[in-house]
Amino acid sequence: MTAAPDVQTQARRLAGYADASRLRQEHDRDWVLDRIPGAPATLFDLGSGIGQLLDTALDRFPSLTRAVGLERSPHRIAEAEERLARHGARVELRPTDLTRPAPLPYRADVVTMTSVLHWLYPVEERILSWVAEHLAPRGRFLLTTYHPDRDEHGFGGEDDIVRAALGELGLRPGTVPGLFRAGGVVPIGTRTRTTDDLGHLLARHFTVAAVDERDAVVTADSAERYTHFHAATFGDYYGRLVEPARRPDFYRAVGEVAARRQEQRGHISSMPVRLWQLAPAD
Ligand SMILES: C[S@@+](CC[C@H](N)C(=O)[O-])C[C@H]1O[C@@H](n2cnc3c(N)ncnc32)[C@H](O)[C@@H]1O
Repeated sequence: MTAAPDVQTQARRLAGYADASRLRQEHDRDWVLDRIPGAPATLFDLGSGIGQLLDTALDRFPSLTRAVGLERSPHRIAEAEERLARHGARVELRPTDLTRPAPLPYRADVVTMTSVLHWLYPVEERILSWVAEHLAPRGRFLLTTYHPDRDEHGFGGEDDIVRAALGELGLRPGTVPGLFRAGGVVPIGTRTRTTDDLGHLLARHFTVAAVDERDAVVTADSAERYTHFHAATFGDYYGRLVEPARRPDFYRAVGEVAARRQEQRGHISSMPVRLWQLAPAD
């Protein structure tokens, strides 16, 4: 049996996502796929990760002859290739930086993007106009976005857990926003934008056909489980704020803060997640 990688290696490779995504992102999958109308032939999944949405979509929609995944992380693409091999020529995985997407020679009946848009801040317009250009005339763009409450520093969601974890390492909470700025880490609470901001941005490129919202509630049965979730989801985005020798302590502290919240609140985090159903602009 291969030993599990240590948490720093895991974070660097964004590894362990199949297991970690059960805590949050997995719940978006059928929610999104249930809203695909008719029998699509072509689907693009943007930020396709380890290929789970494409895998389920290919099983659910035999009409799909071209399912294209666009993803930046080579580790994730390699895992997706393995997962999707059984679908043969119906699948195409394209290494892509979604902040600089290249044109494709065909259009999609459906474009999906789940739990990705905040990583493209502040240049989301680039991918939005790309999608608008690549959507078939009666196509649908299904997008999920998370909206944690944010404070006066633009911190929200995972930023709060990280701030508390840095406190465990001896940093005063008031110094953390400055540390983020100095390290070039934009708080996730800022990246996610408000639903109003995002609504305006989307309306420049699409007609908003419908919006659904639910609460994404994260629970975990141990500190280790949450550390694993954090490393698989956020990679070393926050970890790099800490000098390498202290990173194992940092990841451990993230798990401990989460476990305490779990005990006190019955969950670790809870935030609205939106599913936007977008059609080409009139
Ligand atoms: C939270 S995961 C979501 C994965 C999958 N869509 C899901 O819902 O489970 C975010 C994904 O976006 C990818 N990503 C982030 N920034 C990206 C970029 N600039 N270009 C392409 N992919 C990116 C990450 O590598 C990761 O696989």
